[in-house]
Amino acid sequence: MSDRILVFYGSYRSDRLGIRLANYILRGLRGRGAAAELIDAKDVGLPMLDRMYKEYPKGGAPAALEVLAEKIRNADAFVFITGEYNWGPQPGLKNLTDHFLEEWFWRPAAIASYSAGRFSGVRSGTIWHGILSEMGMIVVSSTLAVGPIAQTLDVDASPIGDGGKALEQSFPRFADDLAWWTEAAREQRKRRAPPY
Ligand SMILES: Cc1cc2nc3c(=O)[nH]c(=O)nc-3n(C[C@H](O)[C@H](O)[C@H](O)COP(=O)(O)O)c2cc1C
Repeated sequence: MSDRILVFYGSYRSDRLGIRLANYILRGLRGRGAAAELIDAKDVGLPMLDRMYKEYPKGGAPAALEVLAEKIRNADAFVFITGEYNWGPQPGLKNLTDHFLEEWFWRPAAIASYSAGRFSGVRSGTIWHGILSEMGMIVVSSTLAVGPIAQTLDVDASPIGDGGKALEQSFPRFADDLAWWTEAAREQRKRRAPPY
């Protein structure tokens, strides 16, 4: 059975660069046999949080929320592509994730951070770790940190230069770590229903 992995990306900028990392990871996961799907917050286009998904009457949430809730519930694992704005998470990604809570529970998540500079978005990635834990995900130990992103991945999401080589070397361990926890969590959910 293929691992069903959702890859979340949340920049709304016209000239956004993080989409390169999202596409690189999607390609890499699919190359390993996973059923990986991009969830691009800009495409989903949720308004600023008013009601969480669970605050709507059953079947009464806006279509975009219903579709996404179903995808999250059916996923085995998540990857968060986390850019950094002023040392913190991008608002588009945070806004999308905050719409849900129980839908995220009992699955592993991995963080791939990036930025325009050498710090590779790690400050934002560190903040995301706590956010994902609060939302009931198990955050795997392996991370990817990519920067400067424009000198690591070209417009086709192909690795370039020394940064690209380093990313190619890091990706297998990142994907292996996530795959191991994905299988472990899926088997455990089959063996024993989550306690709440
Ligand atoms: C509002 C804003 C704040 C930023 N703050 C940081 C920062 O704190 N650290 C950093 O390394 N890069 C920072 N950058 C540069 C981003 O890392 C860079 O623009 C990156 O490409 C943003 O991701 P995106 O292109 O996917 O939107 C900032 C960019 C913007 C637009």
